[in-house]
Amino acid sequence: MCGIVGYIGHRDAYPIIIKGLQRLEYRGYDSAGVAIYDGDSINLSKTKGKVEDLKKKSEATMSLDGKLGLGHTRWATHGVPNDANSHPHYSNSGDLVIIHNGIIENYDAIKKELINRGYVFHSDTDTEVLVNLIEEVKKKENVKLGKAVQIALNQVVGAYAIAVFDVNKPDEIVVAKLGSPLAIGIGEDEFFIASDASPFIEFTNNAMYLDDEELAIIRLGKEIKLRKIKDDSVVYPSIQELQLNIEEIEKGGYDHFMMKEIYEQPRAILDTYRGRLLADQGIIKMAGIDENIEKFTNANRIIIVACGTSWHAGLVAEYIFEDLARIPVEVEYASEFRYRNPVITDKDVLIAISQSGETADTLAAIKLAKEKGAFVFGVCNVVGSTISRETHAGAYTHAGPEIGVASTKAFTTQITVLTLIALKLAKEKGVFSQTQYHEYLTELENIPSKVEKSLLSNVLIETIAEVYKDSTNCLYLGRGYNFPVALEGALKLKEISYIHAEGYPAAEMKHGPIALIDEQMPVFVIATKKGHYEKVVSNIQEIKSRKGKIIAIVTEGDVAVKELADHVIEIPETFESLTPLLSTIPLQLLSYHIALMRGCNVDQPRNLAKSVTVE
Ligand code: G6P
Repeated sequence: MCGIVGYIGHRDAYPIIIKGLQRLEYRGYDSAGVAIYDGDSINLSKTKGKVEDLKKKSEATMSLDGKLGLGHTRWATHGVPNDANSHPHYSNSGDLVIIHNGIIENYDAIKKELINRGYVFHSDTDTEVLVNLIEEVKKKENVKLGKAVQIALNQVVGAYAIAVFDVNKPDEIVVAKLGSPLAIGIGEDEFFIASDASPFIEFTNNAMYLDDEELAIIRLGKEIKLRKIKDDSVVYPSIQELQLNIEEIEKGGYDHFMMKEIYEQPRAILDTYRGRLLADQGIIKMAGIDENIEKFTNANRIIIVACGTSWHAGLVAEYIFEDLARIPVEVEYASEFRYRNPVITDKDVLIAISQSGETADTLAAIKLAKEKGAFVFGVCNVVGSTISRETHAGAYTHAGPEIGVASTKAFTTQITVLTLIALKLAKEKGVFSQTQYHEYLTELENIPSKVEKSLLSNVLIETIAEVYKDSTNCLYLGRGYNFPVALEGALKLKEISYIHAEGYPAAEMKHGPIALIDEQMPVFVIATKKGHYEKVVSNIQEIKSRKGKIIAIVTEGDVAVKELADHVIEIPETFESLTPLLSTIPLQLLSYHIALMRGCNVDQPRNLAKSVTVE
């Protein structure tokens, strides 16, 4: 799970690659490297640390001239993060240079064989093995680079998005993909290579995405040559026009992407339902559902698979689908589902939720469900991502690029899409009357302004964060629709502030977590009016009598909880099933402020990556 960038053309490659790597740091940021061909030889700079460290090092130590280059930002899999293990990697002759995102699983056996043939290794990476395998094939078979890459890739097991060039043929880059994403930007006499389109969007809107097991030979002055790695069959490039715009991926005046993305939620939710939710006409239009409506209405059950925050959105969806549309739902961690021999039939609908559309486990779960005959529907944010292409149908969330590693707007927009689907199915199945349906549609239209109002608590939340920033443990409690919000609140806090936090259904507290409560323990309770309110108030009393500190998210105008809690944060009233769209906002802000006050890197927390393309 790394970010790769490459350039070949008439501009200076270095600034494009460095800026591109900065945009891709969400994919991994424990080390980085860049290789630039200056027309004569290759200048290489690699370092443990962030792209900013690489920038300082390369600008101080090497010539930056050159119109051909490769860059990499790493999230270590094989070999610790250090300078030597950073990419790009050379082959033994020094002729070939490679960058790689993914894992070569059989690298050890190949490495031993190459060592027997005299190859020497300078890193612990699988990638250095791959580049030397390519070199060996190229020499032994006396073939060109493209062919050598193809033969070598047929010998490896694993996942990859690679870009490689040969110093003796500096008008060409060879790229290939299996399992990890790879986009090619096509300009006037220039080509860009990247893990997603963000590094090249200011230069060109024309792009193509490689499919799995495809290899492309990119040569200046020539059309891209595309082939299947396995059987060498020719593939015709399908070039698309991208809609992404550069302002969307810059920080826009905020100090951090996470804060920008939290504040974008009113707009993002509106963009999610724009053109789909027509409240005045009393309809929801969603092509992916409209065209496959019977698959859903005839389904025995819906299985939702996802990871991380997307899994939490799936849990909210379980409540919504069962409550509103009366369809049985199971929510599964994709990583468990794929390996536990699940019972899947052609009467099942599988919904895969993924912001990036690239999560390896979610992709594997999709493949499994497809093999068993299920209808597979994707809810993704990144347009053109692998999951959006691998599913039978789907709906984009239209949240815009999410760069902060801690997911915020992706979560609320996923819930919005899933709510639209549930409402549509409730209507289609006759569970909802036209009046009920109409009321829901109107309330959903009010959500962006209610999110806006929820964001007004930011200053209050900052003062609460100040009180609890040095906590070592926190508990998050919620019932019903607010239970997944409690899980998400706890996840947000632990991922960016490194405070241990647990989310629990409020009533389950009695079966364990209550033992942890003392005067040191902050307990965040979501106690909104319509979510089993009285029961949650009793839970709050139980915490209070054990001297726990209570920070409650309540509905505007609440009285009972205010008397018990140490702090309350109000959110506007809405329908119970829409509450997560509001109750999650204060918890996002709280995590942000606590992490900032603890001096943590909010956008790039340690050990995490935005997109997990390895299992
Ligand atoms: C990583 C990210 C999370 C995200 C999860 C699933 O762990 O750090 O923020 O929720 O992957 O990613 P996906 O792109 O499939 O939603």
